Amino acid sequence: MTMRGRGKTLPHTLRRNKIVSQSIGIHKSEIDTPALLIDLDVMESNIRFMADFFKGRPATLRPHFKTHKCPIIAHKQIEAGAIGITCAKLGEAEVLVECGIKSILIANQIIGIEKITRLAALARHADMIVAVDAASNLYDLSKAAQAFGSEIGVVVDVDVGMGRCGTRSIDEAVALARLSLSLGNLKFRGVMGYEGHCVFIHDKQERTEKCHLADSILVKAADAIRQAGIDVEIVSGGGTGTYDITGEYPGITEIEAGSYVFSDARYSGVIGQFKPALSILTTVISRPEQDIVITDAGLKTMTSEFGMPVLRGIKGAELIKLSEEHGKIHLERDIPELKTGDKVEIIPSHGCTTINLHDYYFGIRADRLETVWKVAARGKIR
Ligand SMILES: Cc1ncc(COP(=O)(O)O)c(C=O)c1O
Repeated sequence: MTMRGRGKTLPHTLRRNKIVSQSIGIHKSEIDTPALLIDLDVMESNIRFMADFFKGRPATLRPHFKTHKCPIIAHKQIEAGAIGITCAKLGEAEVLVECGIKSILIANQIIGIEKITRLAALARHADMIVAVDAASNLYDLSKAAQAFGSEIGVVVDVDVGMGRCGTRSIDEAVALARLSLSLGNLKFRGVMGYEGHCVFIHDKQERTEKCHLADSILVKAADAIRQAGIDVEIVSGGGTGTYDITGEYPGITEIEAGSYVFSDARYSGVIGQFKPALSILTTVISRPEQDIVITDAGLKTMTSEFGMPVLRGIKGAELIKLSEEHGKIHLERDIPELKTGDKVEIIPSHGCTTINLHDYYFGIRADRLETVWKVAARGKIR
């Protein structure tokens, strides 16, 4: 098909120009920027490494969707052995159900009649499990599930030291478990407790000690519920920084780690097992001074709440500032190849929030564009 503008044939380069579906097979340096790249070999190796860890262990893996928000990656994790998917938001769960994921833990409280109604409806199409830490929420969930003729699984959220959501005592956890059994169309499944205060502790011994303390609180809650004569199937916790600690703790049945799939710069500084698979491809748009390089990617492309993102494969240069649409790089030595129009790759410091700024992933293998995937649950905050 010929593309015409004001009666004239457009130049070949413009005819070729596609906003999203860049031509498969092109070299990654030809991708328009800023672009969110996945090194597919590295991502697949991270998925395999984590899946292999759980082979032959009592605990299983239910990876967190909040990191990648991408259904095909969720399916890859399940193919590798994961028993289902964890997510934070109901909107994420809806995306997962639509793409055929069968078992979903929403590791968060779903509050408010509108959301609870959506959850009860969704539970007709998949095994839905939701975290609960209040009696009033259990009554609302039960009412909505009865109205839809569905069944909602519940896990009691136990605070294991992070001080976020979750029951603050074991007695409270037992009381909620009991109450859930007495209400129609709810199925008590177990307990969850996320040790987010432990996952980034650099010293492995300190991380292990603090994590064991957190795990012991969760397992004690599960044991107390069992002593009350109630079956506990799920005891869920764990992040990327603690998967091999919580994942080996006796009594824990599931791990919720998510970041391992891409291992951002912050996590790569804490544990070395997983390699950075994610990067932002940017273009140098200005070289105003000998030692200053400006790129086309700022805070609307990558986040910095976990510190500055890190340049990939360039020594003697550092990303020192992000404004809305600019990244400022300081050169400690002259790097002549960083001139206007050149491409620079940057590893996000926090993958989960950076990904949420993008519509698409560009999947790269051997430096060539292999696939473009939608970040389907981007912005699903409701
Ligand atoms: C409830 C819950 N579980 C698990 C995780 C684990 O995630 P990560 O692998 O990023 O440590 C998180 C992270 O925020 C979380 O909020």
